[in-house]
Amino acid sequence: MIGAARRLLADGRRIVCFSGAGLSAESGIATFRDATEGLWAKYDPTVLASPEGFAADPQLVIDWYASRRRTVAEAQPNPAHTALAGRDDIVNVTQNVDDLLHRAGAEPIIQLHGRLDADRCHGECGHWEVVSLSEPPGLRDCPDCGQPMRPAVVWFGEALPPQQWKAAEQACRDCDTLLVIGTSAIVYPAAGLIGLAKSAGARIIVVNPQRTEAGRIADVEVLGPAGEVVPELLG
Ligand code: OAD
Repeated sequence: MIGAARRLLADGRRIVCFSGAGLSAESGIATFRDATEGLWAKYDPTVLASPEGFAADPQLVIDWYASRRRTVAEAQPNPAHTALAGRDDIVNVTQNVDDLLHRAGAEPIIQLHGRLDADRCHGECGHWEVVSLSEPPGLRDCPDCGQPMRPAVVWFGEALPPQQWKAAEQACRDCDTLLVIGTSAIVYPAAGLIGLAKSAGARIIVVNPQRTEAGRIADVEVLGPAGEVVPELLG
């Protein structure tokens, strides 16, 4: 399967990588849906990652994000991030909010679900600030309008950032090869990008230690961890 995937990538002229939490798993950042270690197995997303949860207990939400931010600050890009960064012909569309692709040097990166290293005004006044991951801010008000500041990530029930979504749709419609790495492919609208690329004629390669929804429409499925498989595919 690795050989078939390598051949597809070698033939690709417009390659997009669509990634999820599994890309950063070997850097020590928990995925969301792992049965025991996944964030959503341990924490309730409606409490910690929704506008309703933030309204009910903003301090709890900010404290939880502070701990996630510190985890990301201590993590390092793994060989999969580095291999992707080594290919400046690949457009990265990621659901991940960490900065590991950035730190590896990948370019361009479309972050569909926002980013942990920034805060924005929850009141939508447009105020936006880069924040430290190692020394994350506590609960505070927007200096422009006085509404609370919050992580610049997409929460349940919220729309994806329109510019990023448009760019991701365009990239997936235009690509001839889509490399899907480390996503359960069940969270929409992001997961719909795989079907979009497929129906526009792209070949689909899926890398994941286990079979996923994306495998159903994959041309090639490579079962294994990203940190081992991706450098072999792109090297
Ligand atoms: P999930 O936690 O749903 O899925 C992670 C996938 O990574 C699973 O299919 C794992 O099998 C796979 N995986 C685990 N270790 C891996 C490794 N070493 N190499 C490759 N794959 C590995 O995470 P996502 O699909 O990213 O949304 O979740 C999508 C969205 O749901 C997230 O962006 C987040 C979440 O709720 C928001 O926060 C808006």
